[in-house]
Amino acid sequence: MAKLFARKPLDRLMKEAEEVGEHSLKRSLGAINLVALGIGGIIGAGLFIRTAAAIADRAGPSVVLSFIVAGIGCAFAGLCYAEFASMIPVAGSAYTYSYATMGEFVAWIIGWDLILEYAVAAATVSTAWSEYANRVLSWFDMRMPYQWSHSPFEHDPGGVYGLMNIPAVFILLVLTLLLIRGTKESALVNGIIVILKVSIVLLFIGIGWHFINPANHTPMIPPTTTYTTPQGITHAYGGILGILGAAGVVFFAYIGFDAVSTAAQEARNPKRDMPIGILGSLVFCTILYVLFSYVLSGVATVQDFRAAGREASVAFAITKYMTGYEWLSKSVTVAILAGFSSVILVMLLGQSRVFFSMSRDGLVPRVFSDVHPRYRTPYKSNMLFFVFTGVLAAFVPADVTGEMTSIGTLFAFILVCAGVWIMRVRSPELERGFRVPAVPLVCTLGIIVCGAMIYGLGWTNWMRLIVWLLIGLIFYFSYGKSHSRINVPPPEMPEGIKLSR
Ligand code: ALA
Repeated sequence: MAKLFARKPLDRLMKEAEEVGEHSLKRSLGAINLVALGIGGIIGAGLFIRTAAAIADRAGPSVVLSFIVAGIGCAFAGLCYAEFASMIPVAGSAYTYSYATMGEFVAWIIGWDLILEYAVAAATVSTAWSEYANRVLSWFDMRMPYQWSHSPFEHDPGGVYGLMNIPAVFILLVLTLLLIRGTKESALVNGIIVILKVSIVLLFIGIGWHFINPANHTPMIPPTTTYTTPQGITHAYGGILGILGAAGVVFFAYIGFDAVSTAAQEARNPKRDMPIGILGSLVFCTILYVLFSYVLSGVATVQDFRAAGREASVAFAITKYMTGYEWLSKSVTVAILAGFSSVILVMLLGQSRVFFSMSRDGLVPRVFSDVHPRYRTPYKSNMLFFVFTGVLAAFVPADVTGEMTSIGTLFAFILVCAGVWIMRVRSPELERGFRVPAVPLVCTLGIIVCGAMIYGLGWTNWMRLIVWLLIGLIFYFSYGKSHSRINVPPPEMPEGIKLSR
């Protein structure tokens, strides 16, 4: 029993953080790379697809306020991630922080839960990628047949069912190979994509501003009522409830800033650069999101977004209202496709790094921490997660996986907020590159806001989370617990590993 709550000693964590050599990850990322990594992971399906859905179903123009609410919730968690990542710069993120503060059992739960965030998000976004790849192909009069670009649970209006989603598996494979090739190479590709997608979003904001129809922003907060979607789901629309409901929907758009913390072991100067990467990307995206949603909800009407259904998006609003800017509509679609790719890349990176740490601790098999002798990346882990995410993307529809990502992430955020507080009480003397202001107030607010968003996701998602965690417990008690290295003295460093200090 005591072992369940055994905590990983901090000096051991620090030693792991200082490993260099051919069996360790390579420290190749600077502050700019880390901010770009955050932005690469953040801007994706949430902004480009969910904003329109949140306007139509829940909040109308007050979606702007929903972005602010979700952004504030993320800011509390972001501050806590920044403190931890600057203090314990190893690859495991929330998993490692929980191991040091709440013990092995909680750490396992959170490590398992992070699969929902990273691997499941990668699968979710890859199916969105598949849809947009088809849109681009259609400009050239080509299209993947429906059966080969949808899961078996989806069908078109003519009753044709999907078989498997091949484009989604394709993009997962390409990005997995890039990750295996190298973190620096992946960061470079990510950087190029970030420049492209941010430029297009800025162009849309700049040009779209002149097409805002003030009538679409009046009233800014629609009166409280309900709206039933064509699928027969009724939501609160307008008022405070509409704003909060939409905040839960667009929360997905913020996921990714925390993935920066999984690159802590590859940062050249983690104490200084991790907080810059995490908070810099979060602040940048929040500003961009607020402006973007203000323009989007001003250009088209709520009725338009409702009528457009699945087609409701930025490109749709541009085509309908911004005459003369068809090129922008096409550019946005290309930027979306590229943007999805960087989100998948960062999520896959995060996932393999969390399992890298768990494997080092013995909680999952050793194969997950085998580092490629030349590229210094956890290549076997990358390949195994390609298989896992590929199967999900090929056969499971995206709406189920999207909600699971949100609830899994929020759960991790709560534990990280609690962890910072616990660590301040237990080890106040530890050197921190960044300190969360006003502890425990910020931690408490983070827990409350993220808890409220979990509440807003509804019982189906709570049940899914509980079932997922129960499956995790089976793995823990049948493998992790007996293989844990917590009571094993740290092994002699394999040849090639030196401690730098
Ligand atoms: N924030 C990421 C997205 O919106 C997960 O696609």
